[in-house]
Amino acid sequence: MRKMTESVEYTFEQYLDETAEETLLRIRNLKKWYPVTENRVLFSRVVGHIKAVDGVSIDIPRGKTMGLVGESGCGKSTLARTVVRLEPFQAGTLFLEDQNISSFKSRREELAFRRRVQMVFQDPYASLNPRRLVMDIIKEPLDIHRKDLGREEKKRMVVELLQTVGLEAYHALRYPHEFSGGQRQRIGIARALILQPDLILLDEPVSALDVSVQASILNLLHDLQEQFGLAYLFIAHDLSVVKHVSDFVSIMYLGRLVEVGPVEEVFNHPTHPYTVSLLSAIPIPDPDIEKARIILQGDVPSPINLPPGCRFHPRCYKAQKVCSEIEPELREVRPGVWSACHFPEEGFEVLKFIGLEEKEVKIGKDTSTGKASSKASVTEGKTSIGNKETEV
Ligand SMILES: Nc1ncnc2c1ncn2[C@@H]1O[C@H](COP(=O)(O)OP(=O)(O)OP(=O)(O)O)[C@@H](O)[C@H]1O
Ligand code: SF4
Ligand SMILES: [Mg+2]
Repeated sequence: MRKMTESVEYTFEQYLDETAEETLLRIRNLKKWYPVTENRVLFSRVVGHIKAVDGVSIDIPRGKTMGLVGESGCGKSTLARTVVRLEPFQAGTLFLEDQNISSFKSRREELAFRRRVQMVFQDPYASLNPRRLVMDIIKEPLDIHRKDLGREEKKRMVVELLQTVGLEAYHALRYPHEFSGGQRQRIGIARALILQPDLILLDEPVSALDVSVQASILNLLHDLQEQFGLAYLFIAHDLSVVKHVSDFVSIMYLGRLVEVGPVEEVFNHPTHPYTVSLLSAIPIPDPDIEKARIILQGDVPSPINLPPGCRFHPRCYKAQKVCSEIEPELREVRPGVWSACHFPEEGFEVLKFIGLEEKEVKIGKDTSTGKASSKASVTEGKTSIGNKETEV
C-alpha cells in the first residue's frame, strides 16, 4: 500500500486517482442542488438552494461493495439517483472506467451506460409497476437494450433469472401485488440483473423488510456478487448491515462525505466525531449489556442554511472555535482512512468505548458464567468522551 503522506497538498481526489486501475465508477466533486422558490402572484423566484449533494467524490472498486451511511436527509438517495441520471446535476464529473459519462453525447452512449449501471430502490412496493406482469417488468430492459434477442430467448432468460434470485418460473405470470415485500425486492434485483450490469446502486434494499427476510436478501446479494463479480454502492441506515456487507464505507453528513475508508478500519477505529456518534448508537442485542452512548445534540441542520465552517459543529462533542470558522477538507489520518475534521480521533476504539472487547461481541456471553457481560464505563447515566460529557 502507498505510504501516507504529510503533504497538505495531497488531496482526496489525488488519492482516489492513484487507485483508478481498480476502480469501476469514479464520482468527482458531484453537486446536486434543488432550488427553493418563493411564489408570488405573477412569478416565482429562487430564494435559496437545498444542497442535497454538495461536492462528493467517491470511487467504487470493481467487484467490491462501497457502503454509504448517514442520517435521513443527508443526500444518499439523491447521490444514487443522480449517478443513474434519474436527475440532472449541477457540477461534477463521472467516469465509468476510462469513459467520461458526465454527459451522454448520443443515445447509444446512454444505453451503453444503462446496461452497465443499474439501481434497486428502497421501496419494493412503489418501484414495480402494479399493472404489469412480473415477466414484462423483468423483460423490459431486454426489450430496450437487446433488440437482437428473440421473444422466446428473452422469456427463457427471465425464468432463469427468477430462479437465480430464489423465485419460481410460475411467478413470471403474476402481478406485483401478489408477492410479499421480500419477494418483490427479489423481483427488483432480477430486473436490475437482467442486463448483466457491472454495478448496482442499492438504495436501502432491505430497510423495508423484516429481519429474517433482510438476511436472505443480503445473502442473495452476496452470492450474486461472487457469481457475477458485481460492484455495489450499498446505501443503508443500519450500520450493522453496512459493516456486514461492505468492503469500504463512506460516511455522509449534510451533503458531504466526512469519513471514508476500509470498513473494518472505520468501524473499529473511527476518526470523525460524527462516525463515533453513529457507531456508539449501534444497538447490541443483549439487555444485560449497558452501553456508553453519545446522543447527538439537536436536529440535523437545514440543508438550505448550512452552518458555517464544519457542518457538524453545532452537534459535535469536540467542537472548538475554529470549527465554526473553517470547513475541514477530507485528509488522510491513517493510511487509507480519510476524515474531514480539524481534531480527528486517534486510536479511538469503539468496542472499548462501549465497554466490550471483540471476543465478547462475538460470543455475546460470559462463557464462564453463561451470563452476558457488562463492562460499559458509565457513571450516573453519563459518560465522557473527548472534552465533553454526553448523555447516555
Ligand atoms: N426532488 C426534490 N426536490 C427538493 N428537495 C429534495 C428532492 N429530493 C430530495 N430533496 C432534499 O434533499 C435532501 C436529501 O434527500 P435524500 O432523499 O437524498 O436523503 P437520504 O439521505 O436518502 O434520506 P433517507 O435516509 O431518509 O432516505 C433532503 O433535504 C431532501 O428534502
Ligand atoms: S471539525 Fe470540529 S466540529 Fe467538525 S467534526 Fe471535527 S471537531 Fe467536530
Ligand atoms: Mg434515501
